[in-house]
Amino acid sequence: MDKIIIAIDGRSSCGKSTLAKGLAARLGYTYIDSGAMYRAVTLYFLRHHIGLDDEEQARQALDNINIRFNAENRTILNGEDVEGEIRRMEVSNYVSQVSAIPAVRRAMVRQQQAMGRNKGIVMDGRDIGTVVFPDAELKIFLTAAPEKRAQRRFEELKSKGITTSLEEVRQNLNHRDHIDSTREDSPLRKAADAIEIDNTHMNRAEQLKYALELALSAGAVVE
Ligand code: DC
Repeated sequence: MDKIIIAIDGRSSCGKSTLAKGLAARLGYTYIDSGAMYRAVTLYFLRHHIGLDDEEQARQALDNINIRFNAENRTILNGEDVEGEIRRMEVSNYVSQVSAIPAVRRAMVRQQQAMGRNKGIVMDGRDIGTVVFPDAELKIFLTAAPEKRAQRRFEELKSKGITTSLEEVRQNLNHRDHIDSTREDSPLRKAADAIEIDNTHMNRAEQLKYALELALSAGAVVE
């Protein structure tokens, strides 16, 4: 049976992971949150006081970083479950700077490409359709109105017991969007052959239904 690669890109908090997880579950595919990998690197850099503008130091640190996902899809950094910690605001505040470092991107992209070797994956991020899997059979570029994104992220953090204000969330999203889309190395960009979905007025079920139709047209088979 043929399996495909599905790349989902878009700005922060526009619902990529919800859609990607839903698609992966319906297709029996593996879901990979590439943002979690950049967040894990950021956590390591913060803990070990790695200078954000010292490429050589970053390169050396990367040799000591091992990131994987366990069976419950939780992020494991050097054997430690860091799923909770990588979602905290401190990591969110630095992750765009860390992920703009070329050595970091090279190391993550290499690992992400290895994860897709046997296809059957849904990966979400910023450069999945443009850099990681330029030949992905299906590329989705997700968008949503800024206010909607801030509100969703705020609710998500609140449900996890993380205290913050809507204004702080809004500022963090604006800041990350700016860095993610203007960095020199693989900025967030819609691939020429990506299908854009604006989900501002769509619920989860509607998005999943539409994306599933796209996946089936691209050659995926529902198990
Ligand atoms: O998807 P997320 O918000 O958890 O991603 C966290 C950060 O990681 C985001 O601000 C930019 C970076 N990132 C990236 O540069 N490339 C990716 N493929 C995924 C995430």
